[in-house]
Amino acid sequence: MSTPFAPRQWSSRFAFLMAAIGSAVGLGNIWRFPYLAGENGGGAFIVIYAITTMGIALPILISEIMLGRMGKQSPINTMRKLIAENKAARFWTLIGWGGTIGAFIVLSYYSVIGGWALKYVELALTGAFAGETNAAAAEHFSVFVADPYSVSLWQTLFLVFTIGIVAAGVTSGIERAVVLLMPLLFFLLVGMAIYAATTPGFGKAMVFMFAFEFDEVTPGTILAAIGQGFFSVSVALGAMMTYGAYLDEDASIGRSAVIIAAADTMVALLAGIAIFPLVFTYGLEPSSGPGLTFITLPIAFGTIGGGVLIGAAFFLLLSVAAITSAISLLEPVVAWVEEGIRLPRKWLALIVGAAAWALGIGTVLSFNAWADFYPLARFGLMADKTVFDVLDFTTSNIVMPTVGLLMSLFAGWVLSGAMVEEALGARGRLWFRLWRFALRYIAPLGVVSIFVANVLM
Ligand code: PHE
Repeated sequence: MSTPFAPRQWSSRFAFLMAAIGSAVGLGNIWRFPYLAGENGGGAFIVIYAITTMGIALPILISEIMLGRMGKQSPINTMRKLIAENKAARFWTLIGWGGTIGAFIVLSYYSVIGGWALKYVELALTGAFAGETNAAAAEHFSVFVADPYSVSLWQTLFLVFTIGIVAAGVTSGIERAVVLLMPLLFFLLVGMAIYAATTPGFGKAMVFMFAFEFDEVTPGTILAAIGQGFFSVSVALGAMMTYGAYLDEDASIGRSAVIIAAADTMVALLAGIAIFPLVFTYGLEPSSGPGLTFITLPIAFGTIGGGVLIGAAFFLLLSVAAITSAISLLEPVVAWVEEGIRLPRKWLALIVGAAAWALGIGTVLSFNAWADFYPLARFGLMADKTVFDVLDFTTSNIVMPTVGLLMSLFAGWVLSGAMVEEALGARGRLWFRLWRFALRYIAPLGVVSIFVANVLM
């Protein structure tokens, strides 16, 4: 059957890796990981994060890329095809639907935070952080997020980049952008980490990040680490499934997934190495939560020599990381509409992107006009949650664990062992048996425990 749209296939394995690492490396690594580590006792969190990511998120990542390559379409149609071929229950299409809808919702708020990052490039370049005190930095941030027009302007700019790249197509858009942007990101990050290593707070930062204090480990630390691992390697939203659909038959999925998860973890650690020495050098608070990047760091940038350039480089890095992740959230939805609607990809990308923009306004307003509006207040769990909090909570704590669980069950229990062994090109390999065990038992138990802890406790 010929498709009405251009063929979607990576032109090299390198292109696939850059796109997948671009998806994994995002706000999750540079904004969320350092502040979660800061709030959860540093070393204890980081060690547990590394273990749970390899034991839970990585096995699911392998299965997600594999499902994509087996189906070769958008997540929804991939699941339909695999269900038909394996005479499985229609119930499993939930993997496709849940992932696609989840990706759309995450895109809507991700582009608002991505817009904050872009705004901070401007603030850094115009010297707005010079001589910033604690109070002034907090004030800067709250004044900015309190203005819906300004936040929405930057959100729009962020989406224009994202839509533009996806509209240009898989090879001439996504692939061209990531092979350029990912090395730039890596270069900026390594530069920042080297710079941070020369500051006096470096030693303290290393102790903070890598000293493993057993008594700091609580169930909460473990759960935060598992959840972060999921979000960070981009599993369960169909992004990796879609990228896997464009991968050629011969590429090794096992090896690619290990590279993606390792690169993702390395970037998170490098982000910590770039950030914490500045925090300690300037006597700031490592456990200051989501404000760590947008409030604490500008104080450091306002004080250090060359802070204008270093600050701008940092926020540019954050923006680039966010854009290459946002692309992977838009693509699964665009791929799906492209398979059903005969309109040029440009238009479809624009329509889907505009819809995500409109939903994103709910997040923009959550920090100002709707700061006290709790749409689902009737449900106990959502009592004090703004629109942004509701979207974030439902996607990270309900949609992602559910879809991840279903993926591991589908690939681990519904598809036959022989079939997946063949699909992964792993006949008789030891890693295959370890992977399948992790997928069938460890991952489902891990996911159920995040779920129970987050929703019921
Ligand atoms: N992994 C991205 C980050 O760390 C977020 C993301 C999740 C992107 C799921 C796509 C799919 O920021």
